[in-house]
Amino acid sequence: MSRLSGSTALVTGASRGFGRGIATALAQHGASVVGVARDRARLDEVAQEIGTAFTPVQADAADPVVAGRLIDTIAPTVLVLNAGTSPLSRPLHQHTWESFSRPWEVDVRHAFSWSREALLRPLAPGSVVVVMSSGAAIAGSPLSGGYAGAKGTIRVIASYARDESERQALGIRFVSVLPQLTPATDLGAAAVAAYAAREGQTTEEFTASRGPALSAGQVGQAVIDLVTDRGLDQPAYLLTAAGLKPLS
Ligand SMILES: NC(=O)c1ccc[n+]([C@@H]2O[C@H](COP(=O)([O-])OP(=O)(O)OC[C@H]3O[C@@H](n4cnc5c(N)ncnc54)[C@H](OP(=O)(O)O)[C@@H]3O)[C@@H](O)[C@H]2O)c1
Repeated sequence: MSRLSGSTALVTGASRGFGRGIATALAQHGASVVGVARDRARLDEVAQEIGTAFTPVQADAADPVVAGRLIDTIAPTVLVLNAGTSPLSRPLHQHTWESFSRPWEVDVRHAFSWSREALLRPLAPGSVVVVMSSGAAIAGSPLSGGYAGAKGTIRVIASYARDESERQALGIRFVSVLPQLTPATDLGAAAVAAYAAREGQTTEEFTASRGPALSAGQVGQAVIDLVTDRGLDQPAYLLTAAGLKPLS
C-alpha cells in the first residue's frame, strides 16, 4: 500500500481507459494523484471511486499552458503522459490532412510540451515520467491515419528527454510504454471494431485471434512496476497481457 506514500503523481487522460487504471493503481500504492482530462463528469466518477487521494483537473492536456501551469504548481514526482485522441478509423485515402494529423496535434504536442516542462522546471531528482506510446509504433496501424507515426515520435521524444536528463544530471527517468491494441478501452474498442470489419470477422473473433487482451488494470500495474522497480531501467517497453518486455 505504501510504496508511493507521500509522493504526488499526475496522470493525463485519467477519466477513463488506461489512465483511469493507472490513477487507481497509483492511489492504491499510496500516491496522491492529480488526474487531468476534459470531461468533468467522468473525472468526478473517478474521484468518487478513488476517494480523497484523487484530485480532478478539467483541462486540455494538449494545451502547453496547461502543461506549464500544472508542472509548476504540482511538481509531481510521477508523471504519466497517457492522454490520447481516438483516431478516425479509416484507410489512408479516406482521411483528410486534418483527421490524419489529429494524433500529432493532441498526442505528440502533449508529450512534447509536458516532457519539455518536466526538464525545464526540472522535476525533482528520482522523478519518473512514463510516456504512453503504442505497439502501433512498431507494427503500424493502417486504419488510424497518422496515429502509428505519432506514437513512434512520442517514443523518440521520451528517449531524447531521457538523454537530456542524463546529460544535465537531472536524475529524471523517462520511459515509454508501447501497449498492444486492446478492446478494453473506448479508443481500443473502436480500432478493434474497424480491423475486425476489414478482416470480415466479428470483434470477438478478431480479439480471440490475438491472444489474451490487455486490461486497464494491467496497464496500471505495469506503471507501478516501472515507477517502483529500479531494475526496469530500459528506455522503452512493449506491454501485453503477458507483461512488460524491454525494447532495444
Ligand atoms: N487502447 C489501446 O488499445 C491502446 C493501445 C496502445 C496505446 N494506447 C494509448 O494509451 C493511451 C490511453 O488510451 P485509452 O485506450 O485508455 O483511450 P481512451 O479510453 O479513449 O481514453 C483516453 C483518455 O485521454 C483523455 N484525453 C484525450 N484527449 C485529451 C486532451 N486533449 N486533454 C486531456 N485529456 C484527453 C480522455 O479524456 P477526455 O476525453 O475526458 O479528455 C481519456 O481520459 C492513449 O495515448 C492511446 O493512444 C491505447
